[in-house]
Amino acid sequence: MRIIKRILMFIAGLLVILQFIRPAKNILRSDSQHDITKQFRPPPEIESILRTSCYDCHSDSTRYPWYAEVQPVGWWLNNHIHDAKQELNFSEFASYRLRRQYRKLEEMIKQVNEGEMPLPSYLIIHTDARLSQQEKDQFVAWVNAMRDTMKTSNPVDSLMRRQ
Ligand code: HEC
Repeated sequence: MRIIKRILMFIAGLLVILQFIRPAKNILRSDSQHDITKQFRPPPEIESILRTSCYDCHSDSTRYPWYAEVQPVGWWLNNHIHDAKQELNFSEFASYRLRRQYRKLEEMIKQVNEGEMPLPSYLIIHTDARLSQQEKDQFVAWVNAMRDTMKTSNPVDSLMRRQ
């Protein structure tokens, strides 16, 4: 029994120490000049979907839940945010090259239609970020319209590699 008690004490001690090792928060003070909303000016309902369902991971401003203060949960969240931003950061979207923007818009349609995004594990707790079928359709229609706008105002070569 003594050994079990010692192991438990050791784990408890370790957890206490872990609380002092905190990842830097992903919070930008002011809005980014390169934000996708500045480039494409979405209508309010689309901007609201982006901010509520995507920005926690795909932007420079995360709304942190209280349990992000508890390690190692905070590290785990931070990893998600890091990976998500590397693939797609809406706060930097307007600074992407046209080809990348065009491809990311296509990916957004795929991910939302297939129910891969927002991440299902995130939706368990963030129920406000869940998208109804109608919201998904609205969102996809808007993204499609943005792709069309890009197509009419840019030469195809700048958006896609020649086949
Ligand atoms: C809980 C965090 C989280 C949320 C919320 C989230 N994503 Fe993601 N997303 C990720 C992570 C992590 C990746 C990269 C790894 C992967 O593909 O699973 C990713 C990848 C993507 C990709 C793939 C990029 C590429 O080029 O392959 C797209 C597109 C995307 N997300 C769109 C969205 C959209 C649109 C929303 C909102 C409707 C959203 N995501 C919400 C975490 C998130």
